Amino acid sequence: MSEPAISIRNLSKIFGKQAKKMLPLVHQGMDKETLLTRHDHAIGLQGINLDVEAGEIFVIMGLSGSGKSTLIRHFNRLIEPTEGQIDIKGTDITTLSRKQLEVFRQQHLSMVFQRFALLPHRNVLDNVAYGLEIQRIPKEQRLEKASYWLDRVGLTGYDRQYPNQLSGGQQQRVGLARALCTDADILLMDEAFSALDPLIRAEMQLQLKQLQKQLHKTIIFITHDLDEAITLGDRIAILKDGCLIQQGTPQQILQHPADDYVAAFVQHVRPDALHKAS
Ligand SMILES: Nc1ncnc2c1ncn2[C@@H]1O[C@H](COP(=O)(O)OP(=O)(O)OP(=O)(O)O)[C@@H](O)[C@H]1O
Ligand SMILES: [Mg+2]
Repeated sequence: MSEPAISIRNLSKIFGKQAKKMLPLVHQGMDKETLLTRHDHAIGLQGINLDVEAGEIFVIMGLSGSGKSTLIRHFNRLIEPTEGQIDIKGTDITTLSRKQLEVFRQQHLSMVFQRFALLPHRNVLDNVAYGLEIQRIPKEQRLEKASYWLDRVGLTGYDRQYPNQLSGGQQQRVGLARALCTDADILLMDEAFSALDPLIRAEMQLQLKQLQKQLHKTIIFITHDLDEAITLGDRIAILKDGCLIQQGTPQQILQHPADDYVAAFVQHVRPDALHKAS
């Protein structure tokens, strides 16, 4: 089997001024609430191990505060781990200098945010081309490429519009085109569709799946919605209080929820969710 695209080993994140000093307490089993009340430190993640295979859509889900954003932000080191190893395509990114990390991100990682994060004073085409501009790709070339990706996400003709002239769904298409435009092979999507209304959200899910059939990117997709996780995910990982409590295919999760927490999600799944996924 080929090497995983992302491999996380013993990753823990504690928020607070003396995070490393708190590690022994956490390893001895102190829970999140106790660490917070007694020592004023928050457990973000605890002993996470996971592998993401190249070309899969790997969904991370869990309730608010379970550590989803904290985890995905380690994948491009927007957050520094308190301990543990983060291998991406065979490189332990915790060992990279700032400069090396910048280059590594440009080559391999792009992110789509929940609130779109578009640049308001640039038109749509320049927003999509932004990542290429940072890489100093000549103007003509980058605009041509941006225009191609705008077409691919269904926004032909919107080049000269500004973000505030677009609907939420259209803005997120721009966000997606911007992420795809750099050719990064790993796409990080943190609640990328959560701000959209249900119909548009379902459309975006479908479009992402269709694009993925041709692109074969490695996609990490965060959601707190199990229907969305099942629709999109080749595999799903479930977080609770910073711990990974179950990983598996949608089918495995639905049929064998690991505990009551997972079962509570499963209970609210729409009956057609698995059918829609295939
Ligand atoms: N900068 C920070 N300082 C202190 N604690 C933090 C910080 N960022 C996150 N946390 C804590 O880490 C935990 C996980 O937060 P995180 O944002 O990863 O949750 P989430 O699963 O993404 O939630 P949501 O669904 O609401 O986005 C929370 O308990 C939070 O309080
Ligand atoms: Mg979050």
